[in-house]
Amino acid sequence: MSVFKKIQKLFSGKSKIFLGIFSLLLLGIFLAMMLSFVFAPSATVIFESEESKTLEGKPVFNQVWLEKSDEQEDIWAMRQSHHGAKFYPADQLRIVINKNTRPYRASFFQYSEKNGKAFEEVQYRASCFACHANGPRALRPVLNSEIFPLEVKSRLLVALWNFKIKSYGRVETAPETLIKEKVRAVKLKFEGAMDQDILKVKTCLYCHSDGSDPDGRWWQNHKRAPLLRQHAMSIQHLVETNQMPPFPFKLEEAEREAIQQFINGM
Ligand code: HEC
Ligand code: HEC
Repeated sequence: MSVFKKIQKLFSGKSKIFLGIFSLLLLGIFLAMMLSFVFAPSATVIFESEESKTLEGKPVFNQVWLEKSDEQEDIWAMRQSHHGAKFYPADQLRIVINKNTRPYRASFFQYSEKNGKAFEEVQYRASCFACHANGPRALRPVLNSEIFPLEVKSRLLVALWNFKIKSYGRVETAPETLIKEKVRAVKLKFEGAMDQDILKVKTCLYCHSDGSDPDGRWWQNHKRAPLLRQHAMSIQHLVETNQMPPFPFKLEEAEREAIQQFINGM
């Protein structure tokens, strides 16, 4: 019997069923292993941030993990390093998503660190809301970073987490919390009158706005919070790098100019 025939025989009759079950089992075990690998409670991703840079324009490295995720709340955690992939005792940041409200609500916290664990709540180093208009931000790693090229497992995890983050849709920012029973030194939001101006460029309003979209269609569920002047830095970065508006939306030249004027404070 030729080899070809032998294989054919293997795939026929009873042995065919056996082989089918066997390969399904193997596939199942393989998938389970992959998933437990990715979803391990301790899973963290370290990556070079595409958006965040130090004041001197040097790379910033982030370590992100999902501290907790259940029906009540998700807790996103991050440590940041400005010294390459070395995380000195760093501050730890937390965004807590309260899932009992509609829309969900995000609260922001900063902690000092002891033995790698969040230790004591400290003042914000920056106004979180200025970059987090709608709760957690999509993670944007430099894929082919020289210092921290992203391995396959991390790419998978980033894709999954970004999907989770986007699936929140609109997220409200919870009122500023006190710290040690006192008003914060660095506020959660910029509070100047101009900082509250809303970006009213039609293409952006389709997804970032209060109420219905400019053509009065639904889409409510996937709407995001309006963009304000205090979000200028993030707006500029995402528009300049063509990440916003997402495909297939396109900015008209006049809209591009309107965004530039908005960013310049006019
Ligand atoms: C200058 C802009 C900026 C400011 C200010 C900022 N963040 Fe972020 N943050 C980001 C970006 C961008 C990401 C996404 C990670 C990446 O791609 O670099 C992020 C990610 C995070 C994450 C990981 C989960 C997520 O959103 O993806 C946490 C937690 C976080 N920030 C907390 C905070 C807290 C708390 C504050 C205020 C103390 C703060 N951030 C202030 C830009 C900022
Ligand atoms: C089709 C819907 C859509 C349109 C149109 C759109 N965005 Fe977004 N935008 C999103 C989604 C979804 C996110 C969150 C995921 C991400 O960051 O990729 C986001 C995130 C952002 C963020 C980060 C703050 C946040 O809400 O998470 C900024 C800033 C932003 N977009 C600016 C713009 C600007 C400026 C325009 C118009 C030029 C625009 N977007 C058009 C869907 C849209």
